[in-house]
Amino acid sequence: MSVVDLPYTADVAAETDPIFRPLAHVIPPVEWPLHAPYVSAINRLKRDRNAVILAHNYQVPEIFYTVADIVGDSLALAMKAAETKADVIVLCGVHFMAETAKLVNPGKTVLVPDLKAGCSLAESITAADVRLLREKYPGVPVVTYVNTSAEVKAESDVCVTSGNALQIVEALGVPRIIFLPDEYLAKYVASKTNVEIVAWKGHCEVHERFSGDDVRRFRRDDPSLVVIAHPECPPDVLAEADFVGSTQGMTEYVGELSAKRASERRPRVLLMTECSMADNVSGRYPSIEFVRPCNLCPHMKRNTLPKVLHSLEAMEFEVTIDPEIAARARRAVERMLEFSRQPRD
Ligand code: 13P
Ligand code: SF4
Repeated sequence: MSVVDLPYTADVAAETDPIFRPLAHVIPPVEWPLHAPYVSAINRLKRDRNAVILAHNYQVPEIFYTVADIVGDSLALAMKAAETKADVIVLCGVHFMAETAKLVNPGKTVLVPDLKAGCSLAESITAADVRLLREKYPGVPVVTYVNTSAEVKAESDVCVTSGNALQIVEALGVPRIIFLPDEYLAKYVASKTNVEIVAWKGHCEVHERFSGDDVRRFRRDDPSLVVIAHPECPPDVLAEADFVGSTQGMTEYVGELSAKRASERRPRVLLMTECSMADNVSGRYPSIEFVRPCNLCPHMKRNTLPKVLHSLEAMEFEVTIDPEIAARARRAVERMLEFSRQPRD
């Protein structure tokens, strides 16, 4: 794909200035002339193609705040993908998220800006591994994190995300489950339930690099620090956290902090997750100061504005799934969405 720099004309400046102004504390002003022509072109093409852009919370702010129609965690993106009336879904996230969108809304054209945007968790397990586990633990339900390929989902009884894993594991009403592929998420769920969990050894290459020592070091400098961690972090990190949740859960928790403490000293928040999260939450809650230990997800960062524009221009790269695999994988994902639509106690 050849990327040609687009000019920052007076018209583009005037058109995009209202988008940029509220973001000036998140996107450096010196960068805006590079982004703005793409923002303008993408938003125009999106209308022409009747396309919708779904962006995960780890996308860079220049995608997250300027061209995305829907932002959220894996669960929110799956639910919104299922509901959209647009003809085309451009998924700015990683490949498994785009596959999930295709599974829940198979009539749509689902595009990804970069086909190489994968995930270390999805890479950690194959469909053959799941079949072997089923042989080893006959009759034990397979609960699969959405961070997996469609082939692995097709071998599963139900999917979960970090936002609903505990709820679904408990709702199954069985004494034992196999939980794939994230060992740390499995351990976190096991620490909150009496259901026995057989785990796999997959890890997120971004979150596994955090440690409890990191948290303690930051806390030594500021004992009042509020620590928020993603459940893909190792157990010693989660043990130190004030809140553990999905990327959406983290955003909502910061929202509660910001509302609760409006009249008090600004709380400082340590986000134990991917780098862009702090930028994106900060755009929404500018009064919160973030400590930013920065672990980048190289897969999420493959998406850029020029690649999003190319995706819409060339209608590339389309995500397709073998129909037989899709039919079985869809059952596991739809079962998850049914659980998630039920009201919680
Ligand atoms: P969320 O569903 O919490 O957004 O997590 C997805 C992910 O890939 C985190 O690394
Ligand atoms: Fe996968 Fe980790 Fe990147 Fe999320 S942050 S997409 S789990 S590698």
